[in-house]
Amino acid sequence: GKVFVCDHPLIQHKLTYIRDENTTTKDFRELVDEVATLMAYEITRDIPLEKVEVRTPVTTAEGRVISGRMLGLIPILRAGLGMVDGVLKLVPAAKVGHIGLYRDPETMEPVEYYAKLPTDVTERELIVIDPMLATGGSANAAIEALKKRNCTQIKLMCLIAAPEGVQAVQQAHPDVDIYVAAIDDYLDDHGYIVPGLGDAGDRLFG
Ligand code: PRP
Repeated sequence: GKVFVCDHPLIQHKLTYIRDENTTTKDFRELVDEVATLMAYEITRDIPLEKVEVRTPVTTAEGRVISGRMLGLIPILRAGLGMVDGVLKLVPAAKVGHIGLYRDPETMEPVEYYAKLPTDVTERELIVIDPMLATGGSANAAIEALKKRNCTQIKLMCLIAAPEGVQAVQQAHPDVDIYVAAIDDYLDDHGYIVPGLGDAGDRLFG
């Protein structure tokens, strides 16, 4: 799939404060929320429009609207939750499905502990949401969980990614386009993104 780096100045500015270790939990949450909204603007760029007729005060015009009902947001728990509200600000009619994954601290392998999806999930264009794409294990597992349930239109939205994670998703799921605010340098021995922003789940929720 394609990789889109959302390098808008507002996103890069906010991302810098998200990375800063001195940023408080409150500010971290607000900044992640704001970047999610800005990224949602990019990620929804290609969603289809429907023609409608609109009556202006002057005349009748042809307008074009999106059906927010067509979207599904799939945050990977926990950290993905931090970006959901920011996306919903732009697409309030989207439904939200949750997939819970944690990385086994020894094997680094993702373990699914929760999955609850909207009943009409297969009909929706889905955006898998996770601030961190490290090894790509979690994102790949979430995408697999969706494909197993017959979902076909899937995008991935992350704040920051390691090149290793981007490659892993592209290899396993060539049909999935990836949207990130930044691609960082590398993964360290503990599977942390460098320079990164630390552990997003911990910085959001403690
Ligand atoms: C972090 C992060 C991603 C995952 C990325 O979650 O939020 O979900 O690791 O790593 P990967 O690409 O190597 O799979 P974590 O396991 O810390 O869980 P949390 O969100 O509940 O804190």
